[in-house]
Amino acid sequence: MNLPTRVTLVEVGPRDGLQNEKQPVPTEVKVELIQRLQAAGLKEIEATSFVSPKWVPQMADGAAVMAGIRRQPGVRYSVLTPNMKGWEAAIATRPDEIVVFGSASETFSQKNINCSIAESMERFAPVVAAAREAGVKVRAAISCAVGCPYEGPIAPEKVGYVAGLMKDIGVQHAGVADTIGVGTPRKVQAALEQALKYFPVAEVSGHYHDTYGMALANVMASLELGIATFDTSVSGLGGCPYAKGATGNVATEDVVYLLHGQGIETGIDLDALIDAGVFVRGALGQPTGSRVARALLAKRTS
Ligand code: HMG
Ligand code: MG
Repeated sequence: MNLPTRVTLVEVGPRDGLQNEKQPVPTEVKVELIQRLQAAGLKEIEATSFVSPKWVPQMADGAAVMAGIRRQPGVRYSVLTPNMKGWEAAIATRPDEIVVFGSASETFSQKNINCSIAESMERFAPVVAAAREAGVKVRAAISCAVGCPYEGPIAPEKVGYVAGLMKDIGVQHAGVADTIGVGTPRKVQAALEQALKYFPVAEVSGHYHDTYGMALANVMASLELGIATFDTSVSGLGGCPYAKGATGNVATEDVVYLLHGQGIETGIDLDALIDAGVFVRGALGQPTGSRVARALLAKRTS
């Protein structure tokens, strides 16, 4: 089997991870986390969102986070922008990439962004046009690509439908998101294959929440299809405010261990990454959600 020899991890902990934290997280902690992640070798970092602070209060300091980062050459900083208001706030902070986030489930679209799938495309289209005009890359997230907290199983064709709409409005990359972590390898492959009808393999990524503990298996299944980009969250931070019970994305540490163990390069220093996870979980007063971090931290102290 020919697996990719190099994989890019998009660190989404500062956004997808922290957006779900109930306690206020100081801007300085978010900035320090991003500094540590880039020092550990992450080249793509999803830093924050420009969404309604009434809906997601934790991301209200997006502009301050972007202003606080000491940018490292070669690192790409992305932000979520659901509409023109979000784009206008985002562009002032000079992101390298923006993310428009739609859903393969009508109900989740309503709950998450307060509009239907068709309406979401009308909102995204001018955002995508403005970003392309400004030379900012546009990535799409397609939520509920396997299952929805409201509708249950989602047919793969729905992923294809949304991927096609995203392609039509000028989106350059499709992220296939298992929002609630219900996917298993063949189902995730079926969702990815739908996105691959519209986007080249280098522009399709996997975004797997680990609620059912299936995310690493789903990463392996994705590698088998040649997928070489994954969104991951340091120490498994996070969940989704509109997907009750969903846990965070698969832990970056766990994916790095899985990849390095098979000779797949990531450019990431696992020890420094573990320290970044220790830092943020320490600030939150929580244990790590990464099994690899737990094992290697125990080894360090023994
Ligand atoms: P809406 O209510 O339909 O928007 O919300 P609206 O245009 O009618 O505006 C209503 C109010 O929101 C107005 O303020 C606007 O100014 C304000 P008011 O007059 O009431 O004071 N507003 C904004 N404020 C700041 N930034 C903005 C913005 N837009 C409007 N961009 C909206 C639509 C999308 C804004 C809202 O539903 C929202 O913010 N939802 C939150 C979505 C979100 O952040 N979800 C979590 C991220 S997605 C995710 O985690 C999934 C992902 O990880 C993949 C996966 O795992 O599935 C990506
Ligand atoms: Mg997510």
